[in-house]
Amino acid sequence: MTDEFEDCGNGEPEGSLEIDFDRAHPARMYDYLLGGRTNFDADREAADRALGANPTLRVAARENRAFLLRVVDHVARSGVRQFVDVGTGIPIEGNNTHDVAQAVRSDARVVYVDNDPIVLAHAKALLAGDPDGRTAYIDGDLRDPGSIVEHPAFVETLRLDEPVALLLVAILHFVADDEDPASILRELTKRLPSGSRMVISHATADFDPVRWAGTVRAYADAGITVRPRSRSEIEALFEGWEIEEPGLLVLSDWRPAPGAEPVDPILASCYGAVARKL
Ligand SMILES: C[S@@+](CC[C@H](N)C(=O)[O-])C[C@H]1O[C@@H](n2cnc3c(N)ncnc32)[C@H](O)[C@@H]1O
Repeated sequence: MTDEFEDCGNGEPEGSLEIDFDRAHPARMYDYLLGGRTNFDADREAADRALGANPTLRVAARENRAFLLRVVDHVARSGVRQFVDVGTGIPIEGNNTHDVAQAVRSDARVVYVDNDPIVLAHAKALLAGDPDGRTAYIDGDLRDPGSIVEHPAFVETLRLDEPVALLLVAILHFVADDEDPASILRELTKRLPSGSRMVISHATADFDPVRWAGTVRAYADAGITVRPRSRSEIEALFEGWEIEEPGLLVLSDWRPAPGAEPVDPILASCYGAVARKL
């Protein structure tokens, strides 16, 4: 069944879009795992099957979103004021990349990219940034990197003579090996100047292969490819870039918030790092 999208009770969707409510989508499953309201029966059923295999998947989702917010704050404080957030996700009021970046630097510029029509419907909420900065939204697919870097919103929003932070937070595990993530990354980053950053967070089965085999099956049953990668496979995605301190770590160990309780790596089950273009 497809239908005209009007409102899903979270943000202010604009216009009408064809949404397939019968098919689960990663953005809406993730929203459900985070306790959001922008998800439908197919998303909830698929996410519940994944939770059956991996009962602590909600912890991984929360740790991932917390990492996104910490890493944007860190990168903005280190002097970067331009961000490309590929795999934006459904906006969370006050807790999006531009909210964090523009709280550090009001002139921060953010280009959001996602391939889910629901995220597109909420793009207006993503565009409500600080008037000193700029925000833009591209309805685009990571697997077609040329359509992102050549898009007018990318070209007109970013200055490629100063560093850009490319955020790939919880998206690369939706790219299969035969879709060649390494070549996608080369294409996406080839015009970024030296000093640019690349941030990756990525699911791993390193700590619990059985749970993750079940998670992969649950997503596959919903028509979604998930490819968890080992620490060394994720490290290889940074080839040609210098991973910054504190390194490629389980997300909860990456610059944890002061006073944060330690999290068992089995629960977080994602690695993350920031790297610098030489
Ligand atoms: C798990 S969510 C992560 C959202 C956000 N980055 C975060 O970490 O909180 C993955 C996001 O990637 C998007 N996505 C998945 N595959 C994509 C692709 N090939 N191109 C663009 N976006 C994609 C989904 O629509 C979803 O919004």
